Amino acid sequence: MKHEDIEKILAELAELKCKTGKDIEDARVRFLGKKGSVTALFDEFRTVDKELKKEFGRPLNELKQAVQAKIEELKGGVESDGASEGPGQDLSMPGDSFGLGSRHPVSIVRQEIVEIFRKFGYDVAEGPEVEDDYHVFEALNFPPNHPARDMQDTFFVSAGHPNPLLLRTHTSSVQVRSMESMKVPIRVICPGRVFRNEAISARAHCIFHQVEGLYIDENVTFADLKQAILLFAREMFGPETEIRMRPSYFPFTEPSAEVDVSCNICHGKGCNICKGTGWLEILGCGMVDPNVLEASGIDSKKYSGFAFGMGLERIAMLKWRVNDLRHYFENDMRFLKEFETSL
Ligand code: DAH
Repeated sequence: MKHEDIEKILAELAELKCKTGKDIEDARVRFLGKKGSVTALFDEFRTVDKELKKEFGRPLNELKQAVQAKIEELKGGVESDGASEGPGQDLSMPGDSFGLGSRHPVSIVRQEIVEIFRKFGYDVAEGPEVEDDYHVFEALNFPPNHPARDMQDTFFVSAGHPNPLLLRTHTSSVQVRSMESMKVPIRVICPGRVFRNEAISARAHCIFHQVEGLYIDENVTFADLKQAILLFAREMFGPETEIRMRPSYFPFTEPSAEVDVSCNICHGKGCNICKGTGWLEILGCGMVDPNVLEASGIDSKKYSGFAFGMGLERIAMLKWRVNDLRHYFENDMRFLKEFETSL
């Protein structure tokens, strides 16, 4: 065993250059493999006597470490410089796209309605989903035990209380909150989620969405209401759209009406969507009952107003002809993806 053997390998190591991963692996085998030069020295070392062991132990170990360090260093160089191994990455390739998802049809309709009324000067108002009896019923002129309360099967949060907490059954409660907190003139649109204790079917759901509208000022008349609804209907369903009003009843409006729009599928001729009538019902409305104004501290001699309310799922159904309400709540990706282009 000679020191020159070690120095020779060290010199070879210093000269070592590798271009590819394969070059490095070949070099490693040449030095450290079973038949490698460093391995051969270790084999020889086992056979030498004690004196030589003392002399060569440390330099041999240092040699092995130097070889290992060099191999690691070369590997790092090849990894960070991909160009040395084949063509590497093509930077002109288009990137991977991330799916952005799509907006829910109910959100799309809500935004459209809000945008239309924003143009007419309406602000957006919101109120709590867990409400009290006062804001959902009493202040809206539903006296206790009035049969109209049965029109809307209610989920109670706390019963047996003079003013129980409940899940709001309509967004008309936000009318009351707006009248309480804002100064006349009031012009608000109130989108939100509502809850009714109903069995789930294609035509009914226990959760759905409404948009409420409220306009209060001096000299607001039924003609203003009619004009606002007509303009809205034409923005929403197209410039040819006609409306028709039918007398109806709501405790909080007097007079009250239900509004139909001309069927935009058959244009009045009669089809299965409008059930042959040429008309589609879209909302309820009326002049705010003086009792409702007074309950919220608004002078009904000086001011008048109109209100309206519509179901968003219903509008979405008319727009996209999806006639089973459950689709709007099940979040089936195949359904939601249909609206990707409506972003
Ligand atoms: N709150 C009614 C409902 O849930 C809808 C409604 C009708 C709202 C007439 C109104 C209105 O503001 O004037 O069925």
